[in-house]
Amino acid sequence: MADEIFVSPKKHGRIMVLLSGRGSNFMKIHDAVRDGEVDAEIALVFSNKEDAPGLRIARERGLETLFLNAKLYPDKEEYDREIIREAGKRGVDLICLAGYMKVLTPLFCAAFKNRIMNIHPALLPSFPGLHVQQKAIDWGVRFSGCTVHFVAAEIDMGPIILQAAVPVLRDDTEETLSARILLEEHKIYPEAVRLYFEGKIEVQDRRVLIRE
Ligand code: GRF
Repeated sequence: MADEIFVSPKKHGRIMVLLSGRGSNFMKIHDAVRDGEVDAEIALVFSNKEDAPGLRIARERGLETLFLNAKLYPDKEEYDREIIREAGKRGVDLICLAGYMKVLTPLFCAAFKNRIMNIHPALLPSFPGLHVQQKAIDWGVRFSGCTVHFVAAEIDMGPIILQAAVPVLRDDTEETLSARILLEEHKIYPEAVRLYFEGKIEVQDRRVLIRE
């Protein structure tokens, strides 16, 4: 059977950001949108944490925000269904996970196939999971970096869209390496979103080709 090919839509996009923490990647995406570098708008900033700093920043920036308490839902599927409904109401084209600390259910991943991106602070498929900057140091790798990828049901394993590498230095601590990687995250995440709505991202099976 021929590989399934997906091409991202060339359009003015509507983005929903999901975050749980400080929201620096969200801010960079929003800056790029606001400055006209990305042909899109942020339709909703969602969090599973009522007190997420990123949610407060979104409010200060005049964006619509939403917090839903997962404890009020019978299970993870029902919670994700509610988020999907909220996305649907706003005609969301792309979901950007930006430090969202909840694992999406397979139901969510399937409903938004090729329409959910995540940023991960390592060069996938090396170092999936958490505390990956410390793991890179512990393994003695000479290079680490970050990856923007599509989200599939298997954690941190969807098709890779963009990557940036940084050196791991002898004296690095988790903090110094994380800071060096974060600078690159802030470049490649808005770039990936820009390419998406320029219709330049093609997914063939698990491989992404950037159309020039
Ligand atoms: C980043 O390191 C990102 O790679 C990871 O979570 C962190 C989020 O940081 N997925 P921020 O909230 O965007 O500042």
